[in-house]
Amino acid sequence: MKPKILKFPKNFYWGTATSAYQVEGGIRNDWSEWEQRNAERLAQKAKSHWQDWQIKNFPEMLKPGNYICRKACDHYNRFEEDFDLAKKMNNNAHRFSIEWSRVEPEEGKFNIKAVGYYRKVLQALRKQGMEPFVTLCHYATPTWIVQKGGLNNKKFPFYFSRYAEFVVQNLGNLAHFWLTFNEPNNIIGNAYLVGKWPPQKKGPLSALRAYKITAQAHNQAFDKIHRVSKEAKVGIANMLNFNEPHRKNSILDKMAVAVADYFGNKKILNLTKGRHDFLGVQYYFHNRIKFPYKIRNENREVSDLGWEIYPEGIYHILRWLKEYNLPIYITENGLADAKDKKRTKFIIDHLKWVHKAIEEGVDVRGYFHWSLIDNFEWDKGFWPRFGLIEIDYKKLKRIPRPSSKIYAEICKNNAIKL
Ligand code: BGC
Repeated sequence: MKPKILKFPKNFYWGTATSAYQVEGGIRNDWSEWEQRNAERLAQKAKSHWQDWQIKNFPEMLKPGNYICRKACDHYNRFEEDFDLAKKMNNNAHRFSIEWSRVEPEEGKFNIKAVGYYRKVLQALRKQGMEPFVTLCHYATPTWIVQKGGLNNKKFPFYFSRYAEFVVQNLGNLAHFWLTFNEPNNIIGNAYLVGKWPPQKKGPLSALRAYKITAQAHNQAFDKIHRVSKEAKVGIANMLNFNEPHRKNSILDKMAVAVADYFGNKKILNLTKGRHDFLGVQYYFHNRIKFPYKIRNENREVSDLGWEIYPEGIYHILRWLKEYNLPIYITENGLADAKDKKRTKFIIDHLKWVHKAIEEGVDVRGYFHWSLIDNFEWDKGFWPRFGLIEIDYKKLKRIPRPSSKIYAEICKNNAIKL
């Protein structure tokens, strides 16, 4: 049988994504401070938290060293080599983040050298013909911000928008796509509601306040960026989950889904309405929710992290977003799969559903796979392997996984073959 070819729109952006703290190495920020204090505890907790097959496959999770980022992938020094690999995958775009704590290590004191470094990074991307998508704050913040209360401080919007303006003033000639925040719902949920991530604040009040303040910060940055750059396109990288009732006809489960949709998917979009030039979509999770909030997924197929693989979910998210009438970029989608047994199918299956949404009129203009290289997975440390390129952390060697060849074909042909 002849393969079926699904073509993507002209000028579609194909790329991968990373974030500064997860790949660069040598950064001092709120996360680096926190992991020093928590590495022992995280290693201890791993024993009871993960299943036997995960502990067996990734015993490094039991060692405190797994939870300390240090050099990460040394991307700070090797970005050119890494961009060469992205280019080999025929990528025409790349998403990365600027590390706020490098640019403004002390309140109000901007480091021109750090800006110079990111200028080189942007120039390297331009040289390779890759359109940069730049995130201004991917979870981590400078330590001075956290000492002032982080997302609970009402001056946060002022601090953030001042930093954003400074960056775009200096680098706006090299990049047009700016993402203010990475996944506000995820950072607020983990760091300000359940108190798992730094700064470990707990409770609905601190979370609601963090939502309001993050939205104000985005809105002010949106206005300032547009004032300093005519070409800028500004958005948020939204983590959007596909939520469904566990029992199709249960009113209670449907209510639970409505609450999850409201707080998880819609709240930040509502609070920042009118201040998006595009929507960034990050799709990882499908949740079949049982009232009040129990996840009852079928989990027929899971990643190394035990997260369900559910490609159809991305289609439902995209169909819902059509009502916003904005260009959409899938700024993240990927899985932890150290042996690379599932990644190729994962990519093709997700893209098949993205293609269907496009055919039905959803304006999707790009796809960024998470991630270019293996990297430091926050409170889980180094063991989950998300890269199209494997990192040998001992020698910091880059080893392309077989799936990267397939992704390269897709990017070259602007199409998937079924
Ligand atoms: C985050 C990344 C993270 C990835 C995998 C996304 O939610 O933006 O920083 O590594 O998920 O968990």
